Amino acid sequence: MMAERARVGVLISGTGSNMAALLYASQAPDCPYEIVLVASNNPDAPGLALAHGEGVATFAQPHKGLKRAEYDAIIDAELTRHGVEYVALAGYMRLLSDTFVEKWQGRCLNIHPSLLPAHKGLDVHEAVLEAGENVTGCTVHLVTPELDDGPILGQTRVAVLSGDTPASLANRVHYAEHQLYARVLADLVRAERAPEALLGRVRTLALALPAAEEKRSHGAPGFFVRGGKFFAYFQQNHHGDDITALLVKASGVEEQAQLIENDPDRYYRPAYLGASGWVGIRLDTGTTDWAHIEDWLNRSWRASAPKRLALLPF
Ligand code: GRF
Repeated sequence: MMAERARVGVLISGTGSNMAALLYASQAPDCPYEIVLVASNNPDAPGLALAHGEGVATFAQPHKGLKRAEYDAIIDAELTRHGVEYVALAGYMRLLSDTFVEKWQGRCLNIHPSLLPAHKGLDVHEAVLEAGENVTGCTVHLVTPELDDGPILGQTRVAVLSGDTPASLANRVHYAEHQLYARVLADLVRAERAPEALLGRVRTLALALPAAEEKRSHGAPGFFVRGGKFFAYFQQNHHGDDITALLVKASGVEEQAQLIENDPDRYYRPAYLGASGWVGIRLDTGTTDWAHIEDWLNRSWRASAPKRLALLPF
């Protein structure tokens, strides 16, 4: 089974050449993301027509007359409606509200035409030329409440040439941007889908449960309740099956069978533990609902904890 590609929404205000670069890069057969929505605060943004012409859903909503938080709630609703998992800002000329930034923290990227932290804000190329610098470039970073701040995911250096004008420099930096953005976005998606990253997420959720501890069991990371039993196992390529999954305890074989019947791409009957009602939940489909995984871990924990712990409210 091929994993679903990560769903990306792009926000633009203008030309949208970076959006176009992301879109065309996504045609590569091994690209781990797809563009599912292009939204803009400017209904005349040329990028909207391009995206529409390529069969991508578009959304335009002028911001005039709307408070920032109201406006961002509209955009957020649209992103959510399209099942967007990552937001790429590409020449989106609006500051985002803290609520929006917090909600998308770690999954919202921006591209900026300088080697950050140098030259934040606008009129970057003018500033580079004025400062007499001989190297500039572009940066892709995660978005945090502070403008053009946030962890840097990648940068490309671009030489400043004698005789450069802001326009000629902007033009060359654009070439670099188009390569960088698509690569960094693909790398981020791949890294977050790597088994080690999935194990990290499972571990954080599992060890947050009372008296939970980890130890290896038959070569796989297992999670158990002190004084109780195992409540989850993380499996990766178990006996070469090429599956990354979480095993948790269903209420019995009936529920296990029901889950598999309803969603056979996600649930399966694990070898060895299947007879005792454990169920495998695949984490490599590209459509993992982590709130749901958290619920499963809680349930499985309760079924495995000693009575005095299982009755604790949490
Ligand atoms: C790019 O230079 C980007 O770094 C900046 O805005 C510009 C957008 O250009 N944030 P385009 O609309 O992608 O062509």
